[in-house]
Amino acid sequence: MTQTVLLTGAAGDIGSRLRPMLRTRYGRVILSDRTEIDDPAANEEVRPAVLDDPDAVARAVEGADAVVHLGGQPVEAEWSTVNASNIQGMMTLMQAAHAAGVARVVFASSNHVIGMYPRTARIDHERPVRPDSRYGLSKAFGEALCALYADKHGMRCLSIRIGNVADQPADLRRLSIWLHPEDLFQLVVIGLEHPDLHNAIVFGASDNAMTFWDNREAFRLGYRPTHRAEDHRNVAVAAQERIDPDPIGDRLQGGGFGSDEFDGDLDRTLWS
Ligand SMILES: NC(=O)c1ccc[n+]([C@@H]2O[C@H](COP(=O)([O-])OP(=O)(O)OC[C@H]3O[C@@H](n4cnc5c(N)ncnc54)[C@H](O)[C@@H]3O)[C@@H](O)[C@H]2O)c1
Repeated sequence: MTQTVLLTGAAGDIGSRLRPMLRTRYGRVILSDRTEIDDPAANEEVRPAVLDDPDAVARAVEGADAVVHLGGQPVEAEWSTVNASNIQGMMTLMQAAHAAGVARVVFASSNHVIGMYPRTARIDHERPVRPDSRYGLSKAFGEALCALYADKHGMRCLSIRIGNVADQPADLRRLSIWLHPEDLFQLVVIGLEHPDLHNAIVFGASDNAMTFWDNREAFRLGYRPTHRAEDHRNVAVAAQERIDPDPIGDRLQGGGFGSDEFDGDLDRTLWS
C-alpha cells in the first residue's frame, strides 16, 4: 500500500498544486527539488536533489513506496539542458527508485510527445510518438523508461501525457488539452493505487469537448474527469483574440512547440 510518496519537482507549479492533495491522502510526502522548499507541513519532509546527482537522488527516494515524478525541464531548451534533467535525470531517478524498492512511478509526460500530429487527428495511446521538440522527445524517453522498469523490474508505472494544467483553459488550443488540477490528482491517485496497473499511458485532459485524444485507457482505469473546458469557452476565446496567428503551430496539436525551429514540409507533416 502506498504510504510514503516522493514528489519530485515539488517546488514547481504543478508540484505546489498537488502538495495539499497528496499530504491529505497519504501518510508522508517527501518533497524534492533543486529549488529550496521552506514551508513543509507536518507530514512533509524536504530532501533537495538535482536529478542527475545519483547520491542526492538515492537519499531522496529512501523509504518511498512510490514516486510522482514532476521534476525536470518543462519546456523546450538546448539539448544539454534537456539531456541532463529529463534523460540522465530520469534514468538516475529510475535506477535509484528500483534500488530502493519503490513499487510505483507516476510520470509527468507531456502532450509534446505527440505534438506533431495535426489537430484534425484524433489519436489514442497506441499511436506512434511524434515529438514536436527535444523536450517532447525526452518525455517519449521517459515513457519508454517506464515500460522498461515495469516489464523488466516489476514496477507499476503510469505516464500521464499532461495537456496544460491551469485553473482555466488559456486559449483555443488549450480548450482541447486543458487539465484541471483536481482531475490531474485523480489520475495521479490511479497511478499510485490502481491494483491492476502494469504500465499505462494516459492523456492528462479534463472533460474537453474539443479534445484531440481518445482517452479510453484512462477511462478503463476508472478516470472520470469532473471539470469541463467548455464551461470556460468565453475566457479561452477572448484570450485567443489577443494572440498572433501561428500558421504552422495553429495546425499542430503541440502548437508553438511544433512551429518553433520548423523548417520541414508542412503538407507532408499534416497528411502522413
Ligand atoms: N504545466 C503543464 O501544464 C505541463 C504540461 C505537460 C507536462 N508537464 C510536466 O509536468 C512537470 C511539472 O511541470 P511544471 O509546470 O510544474 O514545471 P515547473 O518548472 O514549475 O516545475 C518543475 C520543477 O522541476 C525542477 N527541476 C528542473 N530541473 C531539475 C533538475 N535537473 N533537478 C531537480 N529538479 C529540477 C524545477 O526546479 C521546478 O521546480 C514537468 O515535468 C513538465 O514537463 C507540465
